[in-house]
Amino acid sequence: MEKRSQGQWRDLLPAVYSWIGSARFQYTQEPNSGAHHIIGVHADSTRPEKYELDAPGLSPELRKALKEHGSQLGWRPQAGPLLLSLQGSSYILLAISSLRVNNVQKARQLGADAANFLRNLSVEAVVICASKELNVLNVWDGLVQSFYSLESFKGAMEEKFSLPKRMAFLGYEAKPDVEKKYRIMAQANALVRMISDAPANWLNSEKFAEIASQVADELGIACEIKGRSEIQALGMGSFASVAKGTKVDPKLIVLEVKGKDTSKTIALLGKGLTFDSGGLSLKSPSGMEQMKYDMAGGAAVLGAAYVLSQIQPPTNVVCIIGAVENMPFDNATRPGDIVQAMNGKTIEIINTDAEGRLVLADLLHYAATRYKPEFMVDAATLTGVVITALGHAGSGLFANSQALANHLLKVSEKMGEPLWQLPMWPELEKELKSTVADYKNTSVDATGAKACVASIFLKGFVGETSWAHLDIAGTAWDCKASGYPTSGASGFGLRTLTQACLDFTGF
Ligand code: BES
Ligand code: MN
Ligand code: ZN
Repeated sequence: MEKRSQGQWRDLLPAVYSWIGSARFQYTQEPNSGAHHIIGVHADSTRPEKYELDAPGLSPELRKALKEHGSQLGWRPQAGPLLLSLQGSSYILLAISSLRVNNVQKARQLGADAANFLRNLSVEAVVICASKELNVLNVWDGLVQSFYSLESFKGAMEEKFSLPKRMAFLGYEAKPDVEKKYRIMAQANALVRMISDAPANWLNSEKFAEIASQVADELGIACEIKGRSEIQALGMGSFASVAKGTKVDPKLIVLEVKGKDTSKTIALLGKGLTFDSGGLSLKSPSGMEQMKYDMAGGAAVLGAAYVLSQIQPPTNVVCIIGAVENMPFDNATRPGDIVQAMNGKTIEIINTDAEGRLVLADLLHYAATRYKPEFMVDAATLTGVVITALGHAGSGLFANSQALANHLLKVSEKMGEPLWQLPMWPELEKELKSTVADYKNTSVDATGAKACVASIFLKGFVGETSWAHLDIAGTAWDCKASGYPTSGASGFGLRTLTQACLDFTGF
């Protein structure tokens, strides 16, 4: 056992991060001798003894032999994975989820189930068998996601489990650019999750900026970082007000990725609250430790920059993260204070715990006026109540442009990130009317719909630009959607944000 240092973020990346980059993909038509082959099985819930091996790349004889083997053992897919040994190779039969969720999620879930099973075996070689219904690269993605370890911050690393040395696909061959995209996305996902899972005494806004700038250097993209005095000098009084209760320097992190057409830009914005104590409107202690995840939107945006710097998007993409911690010390903002946002509007702070919107308000105005983007999307763990509305299996989507909302719905479907569109009823606008300022940051005697009201607040700082907001409070960690890790950060939003840029051809 080796003692770990908590200094360098690179040393804290889980082992799977470098494994993704190094484990070569092999494409094969035949079973590999000695390897463990993953096979998805379609189960019939009413007749459990009836099941189909979804592995068209295997010979009919082999499929028949495996099925007979399973039947002799009285195996039922619902009972969990079955490990069979035949002709010098191993086969793992696993049920494909019968839930009516999308196939990308089903594939990732199959991979995750396989990984959980393999974890106890520490195998040398894994072969994923092609399926009629599921894309095996998504199965691989789920497998990799489940190899992610949450133990970066343990004092010593115990090598409990070794990652497979060889990775092959049977009956399927990916084009090199497709393979590359999956690898990069999976690495970005591990990075997003590691920094989201990291505790707030390590990942504060200064560290977040340091990581972003080192990632940008490594990937050759422009990175600009502004601290407290520059944020104030830009007139971002709303953002700056959130940072008043902490000595840690808030950071405006801007990463610029060059696209094929450099005359157009898309803006991705992320809420990067490295910790949200609530400020003077202090949160209750129960569950407060989870507020280290309040920067997950910012992490997803950094992840998108990571991918897009290696897979050139059609247009420029600017990734902007507002990193800060919301603390009740020093000179903290008080309820009743009035602050002025960059667009000149004033905001009466009713509740210092509605801080994400204060940060995003200035980011939205900055992105809209400085970059005049084709569209902008923000990702934020903005409201607890979006969980009341949608639970943990999907994120809330709000947009001032139905064309953009439709684009995101389509892309998120393709990427296996469920989104559900929610309204910004004009009737709710009056909740944010203040008698002493242009807005209140939250309603006083709320009539509910707080996720909608928060979005309406953001809309006030957007101007005419096409904009959408993803409320990922229910999905950023402990996500319950199929094909997501069951505990810790999920990286939710990374794939949709990235692909929304790659697939953009104009509205
Ligand atoms: N970061 C929280 C939202 C949150 C809460 C995300 C729980 C995930 C789980 C946000 O800053 C917040 O505190 N929102 C308040 C808004 C309220 C004061 C209007 C909330 O949701 O209670
Ligand atoms: Mn808050
Ligand atoms: Zn927050």
